Amino acid sequence: MNQRFAVIGNPIAHSLSPIIHQCFAKQVNVRLTYEKIKGEDSTFEQQVSDFFTVDGKGLNVTVPFKQRAFVMAQHCSARCTKAGAANTLWMEANQLHADNTDGVGFIRDLHRYISVENKRVLMLGAGGAARGIVYPILENHPAELIIANRTVAKAEAFQRAFPQTKCVNLHEVDGPFDLVINATSASLAGEFVTLPAECMSGKPFCYDLSYKQNESTAFVQYARGLGCQAVDGLGMLVEQAAESFFIWHGIMPETEEVLELLRTSMEPVKAKR
Ligand code: ATR
Repeated sequence: MNQRFAVIGNPIAHSLSPIIHQCFAKQVNVRLTYEKIKGEDSTFEQQVSDFFTVDGKGLNVTVPFKQRAFVMAQHCSARCTKAGAANTLWMEANQLHADNTDGVGFIRDLHRYISVENKRVLMLGAGGAARGIVYPILENHPAELIIANRTVAKAEAFQRAFPQTKCVNLHEVDGPFDLVINATSASLAGEFVTLPAECMSGKPFCYDLSYKQNESTAFVQYARGLGCQAVDGLGMLVEQAAESFFIWHGIMPETEEVLELLRTSMEPVKAKR
């Protein structure tokens, strides 16, 4: 019988997780089903528990439910606890287990292009996506990690939560940087993050956690327009999925061919994360 997996989030219609997990399953001869579940604000916890009651083996969680998934779980990995958010759930010994594979997925994809060690790093945004990758960045020993956020109160809250970082308002950032990461949700809304020009003066490598299939995000276009090398977050999406697959099946799939397939064969859709 096929094992049952799914991703829950809202919106969910354009999620690529079913395609990615089916590609991985084919590689290693595992038979599975992988559904998309539209999470509802009022019933998310019930939806998760129903999924596992009806033979669910593993559940990915995406925006905006990662923090609620973390709170629900009875057993969380160390990296999941540090992020305060979960994207991978499964049952073990009758307990709901949770992990967060976003950070490792981000670092694995980033390392295709640049290492973080001794780099001056600027991260834009202080929301859930930023929280998920801040420890994985710090563990890779940057020379400095500056967080810049549009809203001062959120930058201050982030500073309290992560004292190893330096949090400032977006217009106060002082460059140059080696690496600039866009962890805002601006691309999802089709908006643009305006940065002081000095931030980009050293032609930093630019990474946008959001992606658009067959089309560059506004941040990637902006960075390339300034002569910087820039990539979107599709590689991170595939890498975090691979780590979830490993947790559930005990086998690490190949990611390059799946990433290539997604980059070349999909129709353009709206910006996603
Ligand atoms: P996510 O889980 O996607 O990170 P979030 O927790 O709502 O979503 O956080 C969104 C982040 O993107 C915030 O840091 C937000 O900045 P504010 O705190 O000022 O709201 C940032 N953001 C969204 N749109 C932005 C824009 N157009 N310019 C700059 N920052 C933006």
